[in-house]
Amino acid sequence: MPAAAFTMESTSTAILLLLLALLCLFLTLSPRSKSRLPPGPRPLPLLGNLLQLRSQNMVTSLTKLSKKYGSVFTVYLGSRRVVVLSGYQTVKEALVDQREEFSGRGHYPVFLHFTKGNGLVFSNGDRWKVLRRFSIQILRNFGMGKRSIEERILEEGSFLLEELRKTEGEPFDPKFVLSRSVSNIICSVLFGSRFDYHDERLLTITRLINENFQIMSSPWGEFYNIFPSLLEWLPGPHRRLFQNFGRVKDLIACSVRDHQASLDPSSPRDFIDCFLTKMAQEKQDPLSHFYMDTLLMTTHNLLFGGTETVGTTLRYAFLVLMKYPKVQARVQEEIDSVVRRARLPALEDRASMPYTDAVIHEVQRFADIIPMNLPHRVTQDTAFRGFLLPKGTDIITLLNTVHQDPSQFLMPQEFNPEHFLDANQSFKKSPAFMPFSAGHRQCLGESLARMELFLYLTAILQSFSLQPLGAPEDIDLTPLSSGLGNLPRPFQLRLRAR
Ligand code: HEM
Repeated sequence: MPAAAFTMESTSTAILLLLLALLCLFLTLSPRSKSRLPPGPRPLPLLGNLLQLRSQNMVTSLTKLSKKYGSVFTVYLGSRRVVVLSGYQTVKEALVDQREEFSGRGHYPVFLHFTKGNGLVFSNGDRWKVLRRFSIQILRNFGMGKRSIEERILEEGSFLLEELRKTEGEPFDPKFVLSRSVSNIICSVLFGSRFDYHDERLLTITRLINENFQIMSSPWGEFYNIFPSLLEWLPGPHRRLFQNFGRVKDLIACSVRDHQASLDPSSPRDFIDCFLTKMAQEKQDPLSHFYMDTLLMTTHNLLFGGTETVGTTLRYAFLVLMKYPKVQARVQEEIDSVVRRARLPALEDRASMPYTDAVIHEVQRFADIIPMNLPHRVTQDTAFRGFLLPKGTDIITLLNTVHQDPSQFLMPQEFNPEHFLDANQSFKKSPAFMPFSAGHRQCLGESLARMELFLYLTAILQSFSLQPLGAPEDIDLTPLSSGLGNLPRPFQLRLRAR
């Protein structure tokens, strides 16, 4: 190419890029005429508020910004505008008092790229409503049927205890055995049966989901969510996210094919059977939300939601109970006096075990495993605290600031079960307990998760004492990394049979 032509071409490319940057700047900075946006740090074109967000993880940076700009403020993740809410009162006003307006699902590039909005967690509008209602109904049916969810959890808990006994007091890392066991409960609802702990499918599911939760809680995961198009071009662990998701999806697709081959609509065995039956019923309806991709993605969502969250909370509970042996001993005393040793703890015991209930709540508050919630979106122009948020604005609710709100918890930075006990040592609810979020998008696995946490922890502590390998006071409860999740640091422990 002649030099003159080359120079002209580079000049026009530069002009084009400049115009594009100016356009982005204009779109980023100009408030929509109707909106009155909350204040926030001044964004740079294309980069948004990267400079204010880059020094630490996002949750720490946003929490710091809330101290400067107040409980409602605006930030730009790249060129995407997001309104951030912090503190109990503000988050409650949005998610609970204005639940309808704040019920949209915000943009989450990692998940959106994979699900294309087909699964229930990352869908919006009618599709979300239909899939959510359907999933809740099916989960309920399987919980209240012949083999109730409690029975399933107790059965799975016994398999777990058997596996734990095999450690014979030797040090081990509880991570995978806990997630395999927890995952099996949702697997049995979705696929109709549990897996053996050495089954390749279960090992693959838990390993890949765990790895993805880890990547999404790392700077790579956060960076992908700010600059998805840029990261598409860069090497890094974020690339494994989609391979891993894809492999879990293939496993689900394989199970769906088996289900199709043996389906009897008059006696559905599990979630997949119910979904396939609904698909067949609505086959002629071009607007139906029941089709292969919504089946695969919704199953995928439930598997992801049902595996990593409870497993992570249990690991945090182990760490906390080892760091505070007196708390562990008091829970064991309560188990011994209410349940004794002849049978496993059951859900009906919970009402007579206020201390244990308070400890589990406090673990969830303190561990705060989804610190920024999943992103929400306002479904219409929304007046909120003197601002006007235009329809479609993405909202981050900082659940960490709710759980550490000093107006709600006496010593928010400390682990203290008294936060959930009244003067008579009876269990005391707190409206600021929001690990499952609140409002229309509230976690639909909450009741299942709460049953699992209670039944697993009490069964384990009935049979074993948890012993750290080092001094309890050296246990570090600060998360290893924070992003989508707060991840506890890896650890080993010994189980001493009681
Ligand atoms: C300790 C355990 C768990 C925690 C802390 C947790 C937390 C959360 C949070 C914070 C959300 C976002 C809510 C929002 O957008 O406002 C959520 C949503 C969700 N969770 Fe959970 N979860 C847990 C267990 C489970 C389990 C066991 C399941 C599976 C049955 C599950 C399924 C879901 C689903 C499907 C959604 C999406 C709801 C929607 O968008 O309508 N979760 N969860």
